[in-house]
Amino acid sequence: MSSDTRSVIIKGTGSYAPEKILSNDDLAKLVDTSDEWITARTGIRSRRIAADDEYASDLGSKAAARALEDAGITAEEVDIVIVATITPDMPFPSTACIIQAKLGVGNALCMDIEAACSGFLYIAEVASSLLKNGNYKHALIIGTEKLSSILDWEDRTTCVLFGDGAGAAILSLSDEPNTGLIDFKLGADGKNSELLHMPGGGSAVPASTNSLETRQHFLKMRGREVFKSAVRVMEQSAIEILDQNQLNANDIKCVIPHQANLRIIESLSNRLELPLDKFYLNLDKYGNTSAASIPIALDEAYRTGRLKSGDIILMVAFGAGLTWGASLLKWR
Ligand code: UT7
Repeated sequence: MSSDTRSVIIKGTGSYAPEKILSNDDLAKLVDTSDEWITARTGIRSRRIAADDEYASDLGSKAAARALEDAGITAEEVDIVIVATITPDMPFPSTACIIQAKLGVGNALCMDIEAACSGFLYIAEVASSLLKNGNYKHALIIGTEKLSSILDWEDRTTCVLFGDGAGAAILSLSDEPNTGLIDFKLGADGKNSELLHMPGGGSAVPASTNSLETRQHFLKMRGREVFKSAVRVMEQSAIEILDQNQLNANDIKCVIPHQANLRIIESLSNRLELPLDKFYLNLDKYGNTSAASIPIALDEAYRTGRLKSGDIILMVAFGAGLTWGASLLKWR
């Protein structure tokens, strides 16, 4: 826990999911799969798909506008914009700069950070540190993904799992001690990066006829291995952050987990001895939206009255890298 007496609170949240709904039955017309298989193995029933002319920055801008409204601040008051995404509009400039322009944010510090599905927790910690240590008041943090743009629609082992969407939060300094984003426990292990990656489009495999023909520009995953690692690292980081703050599972009022697979969340619930009804779940509607998954779930949990003032909330994630993280949040 930080020795700084000031806290960083989540002053507002917002989320946005594109209109188009793709059901499991729709997917069964594209690849050899079924609603039964997808529902039983993952808990996912549908996902949202962005329009062709709707990019990660558009989804992120809509979520951010809602977060600004909820926080009661204007775009001009934002000092920092940080975006977590693995599907930026383009390699550069950053999606944060594109969103800055779309929202009319002033000359704020803008950057993207890439930590895949753990991205929102990574940007939350970076933004918190900047607020506490720099000369800033409000940070806009956004997890936004157009994963449909990097899915191999011929690969049934991956295309059924993911969806598009965005979630955002306004972080602000507060003089009240020990509230808001209380603590973080983030980590990574790059030795297992090939378990979940997209090989093409960077300096290792630039776009070429060959890279297109060999389908290098699509997300690739060894699902079963990722599953095992996910359960292990989510449990570890959750236990570590609870221990570090002298809390136990009973102190947690709500868990906002990364929404990848219901079976992963059920395993975590068993291992932490935290009943499943304490976990906020929406993966049935959206599938896995990577960096957007936690902020969408947080926003929905808040707007549906699941979060009460003073509640201790555990957010926990894992993703490509492999990366992982946990954070404790005392609700405003
Ligand atoms: O944010 C991090 C992102 N990644 C994840 O969260 C993924 C973590 N992993 C998982 O969620 C699961 O491993 C999957 C859902 C990806 C797969 O579930 P599984 O229970 O681990 O299945 P499996 O990969 O062991 O495959 C079992 C069978 C295989 O057939 P055979 O070899 O037993 O004949 C697959 O080919 O299921 C087959 N299969 C499918 N069948 C119908 C794989 N995908 C599908 C599909 N529809 N969509």
